[in-house]
Amino acid sequence: MLNRLTPGYRSLGRREMRVPALNWMRIHTIAFKDFRNLQDETIEIGPGANILFGENAQGKTSFLEAAHLCATGRSQRASASREMIRFGADEAHVRINCEKKGSADRIDVHLKRDGKKGAALNQVPIKKIGDLFGNLLVVSFSPEDLKLIKAGPNERRRFMDLELCQMSKVYCFDLQSYCRALRQRNLALKDLRKRPDINDTICVWDAQLIEHGCRILRARKAFTEKISPLASLIHEIISDGRELLQIQYKPNATESDFSEKLKRSLNRDIISGSTSVGLHKDDMVFIINSSDARTYGSQGQQRTASLSCKLAEIALIREVKQSSPVLLLDDVLSELDKGRQRFLLESVEDVQSIITCTGIEDVLKNAPGDSKVFRVSGGSVAPKAI
Ligand SMILES: Nc1ncnc2c1ncn2[C@@H]1O[C@H](COP(=O)(O)OP(=O)(O)OP(=O)(O)O)[C@@H](O)[C@H]1O
Ligand SMILES: [Mg+2]
Repeated sequence: MLNRLTPGYRSLGRREMRVPALNWMRIHTIAFKDFRNLQDETIEIGPGANILFGENAQGKTSFLEAAHLCATGRSQRASASREMIRFGADEAHVRINCEKKGSADRIDVHLKRDGKKGAALNQVPIKKIGDLFGNLLVVSFSPEDLKLIKAGPNERRRFMDLELCQMSKVYCFDLQSYCRALRQRNLALKDLRKRPDINDTICVWDAQLIEHGCRILRARKAFTEKISPLASLIHEIISDGRELLQIQYKPNATESDFSEKLKRSLNRDIISGSTSVGLHKDDMVFIINSSDARTYGSQGQQRTASLSCKLAEIALIREVKQSSPVLLLDDVLSELDKGRQRFLLESVEDVQSIITCTGIEDVLKNAPGDSKVFRVSGGSVAPKAI
């Protein structure tokens, strides 16, 4: 069954979720200049597992953040890009040399304390930072992701959006356009109380919300339909066949009623000064053995379902993009029991990964033999023989 669902998987064996090296995507080097506390240096990373260990506050998450920034144009943790610039510096730079489907790419991102982010692909500046999506595919996984099911709907939308943006430039464009129209509509709603003459502008924003929103809706629906059987299969293996996981998309409006819902909620929206219906209110539901895991699942079930969902994400990217993403695992192993740790490391053996941890012994027991190990200390990342 795994072969049918995920061409990447070789076997259904409990510990054999290997994936052949399709078209590899891999990072060769990451270079930093005034990025957080990291030293200005170029780090060469290996094609398989790269384990970064070190005490707290040494720069491990910052290293992963730099890779995520080059892949998506944003940080997975900073709300403002100036947070990533070294204290006291005016600018920060990150450069990644990577390889996709046999061709070499260079991605540069620079951050300015008093300006916008800039990026270049193969030394050609790109107009919008969103255009970075798709050049370097990553799947990031932190302890926060283990709370995907328990977290608010915002986190689950972020999960869908990040994956869809990496897989489709059209989705990325629609999402940006939808968010822009939403901001404009909300501004107009607030103004309307003082200036009833701008009533007509609401229809303009509604038309844009509907146009982009319906495409987003179709993409999210297709995404959930694809990821659900993949996650279900992985969850079944981790739970030794005891649990059946299903993921469902819960849109706030449908293609046929979105326009009507916007009209009906207009008075309420004017009072609140914000748009109460639309794709920005969507959610995903996780069902384990016919019950909503958010309400009825145990903490362990919720975490296993989140883990299954993240692993399914790797399989889905492979299927859609015919290329393996780079896995960025931030201190997630310490959050899992030994069995799940082993399962995770073995499932991603054929993917390039960067794994951070504080204690190295447990990780090394299950990590592939050809792993590269680095010690992170005071912002310096140094290879270490094992
Ligand atoms: N803009 C910045 N300039 C300089 N240093 C910074 C900046 N932002 C954060 N730091 C510092 O960088 C250090 C490394 O942070 P980071 O989150 O990467 O640590 P870590 O190794 O992941 O630690 P932990 O194991 O606790 O997660 C911290 O001491 C932090 O205070
Ligand atoms: Mg950290």
